[in-house]
Amino acid sequence: MTSMRKIHYFDGFSNESDKTIFNLEEDYGAHHYERINLVVRHAKGCWLTDDKGKKYLDCLAAYSAANPGHHHPTITNAVMDALIGNYASVLSNVVFTDPLGIFLSEAAKFAPQMAPRFGNYGNKVLPKNGGVESVETAIKTMRYYGFKKKGIQDGKQEIIVFNNNFHGRTISVVSFSSSKKYSEGFGPLTPGFVSVPFGDIEAVKKAITPNTCGILVEPLQGEGGMLIPPKGFLAGLRELSDQNDLLLVCDEIQVGMGRTGKRFCFEHEGVVPDGVILGKALSGGLVPLSVFITNAKLMDMIFSKGSDGSTFGGYPLACVAGTAALKVFEEEKLAEQSAAKGEILKERIQDIAGRSPHVKEVRGLGLFIGIEVKNGNAMEFCHKLLDLGLVVNDSHGHTIRISPPLVINEEEMDFMVDCLEQVLVP
Ligand SMILES: Cc1ncc(COP(=O)(O)O)c(C=O)c1O
Repeated sequence: MTSMRKIHYFDGFSNESDKTIFNLEEDYGAHHYERINLVVRHAKGCWLTDDKGKKYLDCLAAYSAANPGHHHPTITNAVMDALIGNYASVLSNVVFTDPLGIFLSEAAKFAPQMAPRFGNYGNKVLPKNGGVESVETAIKTMRYYGFKKKGIQDGKQEIIVFNNNFHGRTISVVSFSSSKKYSEGFGPLTPGFVSVPFGDIEAVKKAITPNTCGILVEPLQGEGGMLIPPKGFLAGLRELSDQNDLLLVCDEIQVGMGRTGKRFCFEHEGVVPDGVILGKALSGGLVPLSVFITNAKLMDMIFSKGSDGSTFGGYPLACVAGTAALKVFEEEKLAEQSAAKGEILKERIQDIAGRSPHVKEVRGLGLFIGIEVKNGNAMEFCHKLLDLGLVVNDSHGHTIRISPPLVINEEEMDFMVDCLEQVLVP
């Protein structure tokens, strides 16, 4: 083992050069993700800082994980208190902890009554770590419901999903991805998923069979190109689910928690699903934390003692962060902030688009705005924006993704718009 690196804590974790960091990743890391050439040493609010002290406006917010801004003081202090107070550590699942109980009750109340057709029993919550783990929980829920309640033969359950979806990277989840890159060579893939075009309610209708147990949908596709389905699509899914006794689950990992200007994206259509998946911003971006929330009656029907579990899922540090992040969400009215700022920002970006030879379309809700470019190569523009001091990346190759922390202020939005103007209007 090499000796410990000397750590200076000048304004970040180490004083290793960017080149050293690139080489360390090259030599010791799996090359599984395309990164941009930036080593971030410090992150606060909406700003990221490199080792020269150059500041970059974070217009990505870790794909919505940093909605309250990086190192939000309330959430950071809660985490620090837990560490210093010796109530942060992971414990075995056999004991109760007060951070878990408190977090579960806050998260259950955060959502409206899920699956109201099953009765007004309140919600229950199953916590996990990364978002994809809670997608797996939702899949288990839909399948077990089909087996137990609909009498579908175990192993024959089918879930309807949508082309261009993104729900994470486990084997089962990439099994129904439209992107070959995510699944090729990783077979055998998990069966039991039927994928239909996003937004096409007739295709959903046709895909329903006696073995269908649920529908898994992103109310707005984030990775798929920041796509908004036609109006009435979610309401149509609700209607079909009611008619055919299916569980409708919304994956709000990226678009929930205020990102689109409402607490939940499904609220834009006045629809209540049977279950919702949250992750990313649920802990304010400080520790991995995700949940699946559903009607208490359903949760009790699906999961019994020993049928699920996770070493870190619901461990005290994550729950402390989650409880603090939910408090910040309410106190700072993050959804309302997103709605108001998103409207202004989208209008300003549309103005730029009207004068730009490069922009095909601007779309989005709240602070979730996509700028689709005509040449289909959004990264070409993202690299230029990085030089000017904006961290952005593409969605589905063709769209520049604008999703800053929801606490972005007017001055920061002016800076963003100025950079976009420079790059998009020659
Ligand atoms: C809609 C959606 N679902 C699931 C996931 C997977 O979450 P995680 O990367 O935390 O596993 C993501 C991540 O970007 C997402 O955007």
